[in-house]
Amino acid sequence: MVEVRLENISHIYVTGRKTQTLAVKDINLTFPHASFCALLGPSGCGKTTLMRIIAGLNIQTSGHVYFDQQEVTPLTPRERNVAMVFQFPVLYEMNVYENIAFPLRSVKVPENEVKKKVKDVAELVGVTDILNVHPSTLDMGSKQKVVLARALVREPNVFLFDEPLTNLDPLGRLEMRSKIKELQRNIKTTMIYVTHDQAEALTLADKIAVMDFGIVVQYDEPTTLYEHPKNEFVGFFLGNPGMNFIQGTLEGNEINFGEFKYDVSDVVEKLKEYGTEFKIGIRAEYIKVSKKPFKGAFKGKCIVSEHLGTSTLLDIKVGDKEFKAKLRITDVKEGDEVYVQFPKEKVHIFNKAGELII
Ligand SMILES: Nc1ncnc2c1ncn2[C@@H]1O[C@H](COP(=O)(O)OP(=O)(O)OP(=O)(O)O)[C@@H](O)[C@H]1O
Ligand SMILES: [Mg+2]
Repeated sequence: MVEVRLENISHIYVTGRKTQTLAVKDINLTFPHASFCALLGPSGCGKTTLMRIIAGLNIQTSGHVYFDQQEVTPLTPRERNVAMVFQFPVLYEMNVYENIAFPLRSVKVPENEVKKKVKDVAELVGVTDILNVHPSTLDMGSKQKVVLARALVREPNVFLFDEPLTNLDPLGRLEMRSKIKELQRNIKTTMIYVTHDQAEALTLADKIAVMDFGIVVQYDEPTTLYEHPKNEFVGFFLGNPGMNFIQGTLEGNEINFGEFKYDVSDVVEKLKEYGTEFKIGIRAEYIKVSKKPFKGAFKGKCIVSEHLGTSTLLDIKVGDKEFKAKLRITDVKEGDEVYVQFPKEKVHIFNKAGELII
């Protein structure tokens, strides 16, 4: 296992005499020893590019990649000893046992050792009962497990995953997700996991780098990202639903949203430095909603109510402002008048551009 450190990494793809794409811009990130870190962001934000740079499949236009103290930029992917698992499992035309044994055979590991290593890895990944099977008869989830086993058998320095669950069915996805997490706990190899699925990143990773347009917007532990997003993009991208953002105007000691107001007397001096337009951010599950009036609540209307199994998602409208509230148990139905409150400790205040202030 190694610590992977990216220093000022930028990458430009040149696709024609005049066409250039700046895919990642000046990225600085450290993935600690034996950690499980995710690169999370929308399509095209540069996740795969960064991953390929770590693997040595692309050489960055500028910047440095270190594995512990060693700069690995001059090293080939093989010399870096990096294992990659991609979206589409690619297996050789040989049975599962031979597929897993292949990397060992290619470096002439003695046969008795091959046997032992394949057995151990197959048990770890849960493919022991299909060792004699030809991959063409396997479903996508099982194929992906075999790829995982074949990568593991080499005892890589770093494990790189690029959206490995995307093509699995929902059940296969859940199974593979817990398998990867279990492996990480057991083998303690540094793992870097690319995904555009925030739920996957939040459940799997110790740390998440949220990317957008080739830059890292925020790199933190999942709870920090969820509770203290640095800006509107992160707040909205993480969570299901994303954080609510409601725009209003500072007037005296309150932010005025038209039909309701939010008291900011304790922070008003600080807010004044940022002008008069603000957004408050609050997660749907922290909003208090009742059909009866209560202290500090303002009146609104439920315009949509969706049952999600263990919770209910309400769309609430107050004047021209709309937001979502998520409740575990509620008798609120579409069309009901509701009373709503934003608990102070759960409200964040952002400037007009969506950058976190408080
Ligand atoms: N081989 C390439 N040649 C030219 N441009 C490329 C190449 N690969 C990626 N790009 C461009 O670089 C940018 C980043 O792409 P990248 O594939 O790294 O993003 P991504 O976050 O992995 O996206 P996705 O979620 O769709 O896989 C995009 O604008 C993409 O079009
Ligand atoms: Mg990609």
